[in-house]
Amino acid sequence: MKKIAVLTSGGDAPGMNAAIRAVVRRGIFKQMEVVGIKHGYQGLIDGDYIPLGLGSVGDIIHRGGTILQTARCEGFKTEDGQKQGLRNLREHEIDGLVVIGGDGSFNGALKLTKLGFPAIGIPGTIDNDIACTDYTIGFDTAVNTAIYAIDKIRDTAASHERTYVIEVMGRHAGDIALWSGVAGGAESVLIPETEADMDDIVFRLSQGQKRGKKHSIIIVAEGVSSGSKIGEIIRERTGFETRVTVLGHLQRGGPPSAFDRILGSQMGAKAVDLLIEGQFGVMVGVQNKQMVAVPLEEALSQKHCLQLSLYELAHSLSI
Ligand code: ADP
Ligand code: F6P
Repeated sequence: MKKIAVLTSGGDAPGMNAAIRAVVRRGIFKQMEVVGIKHGYQGLIDGDYIPLGLGSVGDIIHRGGTILQTARCEGFKTEDGQKQGLRNLREHEIDGLVVIGGDGSFNGALKLTKLGFPAIGIPGTIDNDIACTDYTIGFDTAVNTAIYAIDKIRDTAASHERTYVIEVMGRHAGDIALWSGVAGGAESVLIPETEADMDDIVFRLSQGQKRGKKHSIIIVAEGVSSGSKIGEIIRERTGFETRVTVLGHLQRGGPPSAFDRILGSQMGAKAVDLLIEGQFGVMVGVQNKQMVAVPLEEALSQKHCLQLSLYELAHSLSI
């Protein structure tokens, strides 16, 4: 391996820059040349390559987003697009590719591997919805961003004695909702992994009010329903003054937490080491604090498991 490339793809996540920096610095440390591919797989098809030296990844570890930009590229889902990408990689004499992204991006990396090109994945998505890794890059920061917002909403909820429904991200996984719900002391958390029991939510709100509770916070993952629909049901069934806040894309930005910077650094360096060892078609994961290599096919075929014990804890603490 003399020359490797790195790209970011799909939704951006805080800590992706730390991973890019680690790929570049570890690569150079191991006597390799490193290039960046801009705008994910679109840049791979278009040949949008930039050389990355030690200095070009300076001052980025603390920044959210991705210096390589990211994209969703329909063209790469086709065989023609993949073959064009492969031609460009060969023309630039690239020997290996690191893809930082979510499960969609890993499907692209797997296709390249099947076409005979060494590719490796690093899980970067705020949703934490990838199997075979305890954490994905960006999740910790997103949870911290969410609880920062929830704390602020709690202040106004308490002052006005209102019920607040807060919609957080998570199309298929309830991790952001669950973690921020537990950390933010929410009364109820609605996640896609379990069926929403509106009767129970309304009952709990009413019981709380009977005990003198004047304000409440309900967290709903976007994959369950929109916050406004849940807010409407609660308003209708309880008569409580209810407001809805959608946190939206602010959860994707901001400086990465220390955890995400370290995770990104570890995963970036591990990806380079694996390429050098000749392990391709794998994803770097973290399991019980250890960096591991998991075949992409295995990670993609399994469903990410949310920590259900945390859901039970949330339920029992919000009485
Ligand atoms: P994420 O990686 O965050 O899950 P997406 O699902 O949008 O985000 O996927 C990112 C990109 O990965 C897509 O825009 C596309 O370029 C590529 N991709 C997704 N699925 C496939 C596939 N089956 N084959 C090839 N490339 C894919
Ligand atoms: O990064 C994952 C995610 O944040 C999802 O939770 C969300 O539904 C989606 O991306 C939105 O992404 P976009 O608006 O970029 O399509």
